[in-house]
Amino acid sequence: MRMYELLDKKRLARKLSADDIAYAVQAYTKDEIPDYQMSALLMSIAINGMDNEETAAMTKAMVESGEIADLSAIRGVKVDKHSSGGVGDKTSPVVGAIVAACGVPVAKMSGRSLGFSGGTVDKLESIPGYTIDLPKEKFFEIVNTVGVSIIGQTGNLAPADKKIYGLRDVTATVESTPLIASSIMSKKIAGGADAILLDVKVGSGAFMKDVEKAVQLAKVMVSIGGSFHKETIALITQMDSPLGKNIGTSLEVIEMIAVLQNEEQGELKELCLALAANMLYLAGKERDMETCAALCEQALSSGKAFEKFREMVGAQGGDISVIDDPSLFAQAKYIVPVAAKQSGYIQSFRTERCGMASMVLGAGRETKQSLIDYTAGITLIAKRGDTVQQGQPLAYLHTSDENKIKRAEELFLNAVTIGQEKPQPQPLIYQRITSADL
Ligand code: URA
Repeated sequence: MRMYELLDKKRLARKLSADDIAYAVQAYTKDEIPDYQMSALLMSIAINGMDNEETAAMTKAMVESGEIADLSAIRGVKVDKHSSGGVGDKTSPVVGAIVAACGVPVAKMSGRSLGFSGGTVDKLESIPGYTIDLPKEKFFEIVNTVGVSIIGQTGNLAPADKKIYGLRDVTATVESTPLIASSIMSKKIAGGADAILLDVKVGSGAFMKDVEKAVQLAKVMVSIGGSFHKETIALITQMDSPLGKNIGTSLEVIEMIAVLQNEEQGELKELCLALAANMLYLAGKERDMETCAALCEQALSSGKAFEKFREMVGAQGGDISVIDDPSLFAQAKYIVPVAAKQSGYIQSFRTERCGMASMVLGAGRETKQSLIDYTAGITLIAKRGDTVQQGQPLAYLHTSDENKIKRAEELFLNAVTIGQEKPQPQPLIYQRITSADL
């Protein structure tokens, strides 16, 4: 009966109390509410929205459905970083290494890839021997000695979100700002960090397709962080093209190493430095962004960040020789160029399709059970704004399975638009949202 009243309230676009929300989340997690009633509630929320108070209550209920990680064994202020996901997004290990080199601990639990979007732990597992599965004592010890450790998700964090997300996925209720915000923030808060940095991606390879909606989502998440007394900053960053040059697992690790060894100067380096500077700021290392940025630059250019990355890989069982000499990574059996069909400027990417092409080649998972081919992926030769001649390679496809090449090539060619006008440059970082912006 109570659920019926609650559904009636949200249907009429009235505000739910914190108790209403806690009841629905708890009862659904314990299988006391059927999927059809929870689906109806989620759809009313997707249509009629929730205000920041309701969204914070939803987040709290989902946090309380499981464990809250205790990171007190790690010395210092712990800042977590979350990316809303994209294609070629390989920032976390680089950012973690830079921040650790500045003396701020980084204890990061990362996810796996699913569909077109890559996952940090799959990328790190492409380093022979690297384990993402560590007991928490070992995880804490590595953070305390090396300064940075990246492992897979452990513990029973926000199980309500897992169950509700599964239902949203099949009821067309994923796209709802309060539902996305509470889903992301419940996992971050349950992760136990003191402060949170959010990288909210926007564009053709992201969940949020326009900047205005991304800013709205970021503001809700920054507000939720505040209601849990965890300082939260969000950067709204561009995902209209794959980030950097490589998409895949070991291919992305090779690019991370190039940035850490100061051999790569583009957007990936710029974004990693900006994210790292914000993490230092949140950790209270320095309270002005210029000094934080200068410390990060110094950590990168001096090679200290590379050294931290190398130490982390070694501490987690990884083979250091491939970090010192990335040419030792296994290569794909087939490395095939994709030729431009016409001459002109690269005007845009349908970035999601680039991610799909990489997944088809074997670098991602079509289902949770799929096995990853660590040699698979795409190296981009031409980026947005470059000129290309008909027949010139736009990219190379890497795979161990010859049968996958044709489909991936079709997807990739379909993802690239070539035209006669030079496109306007796009910013890499659109906005920085802090609690002062609410
Ligand atoms: N990522 C999440 O964790 N939750 C959402 O709802 C959307 C993206």
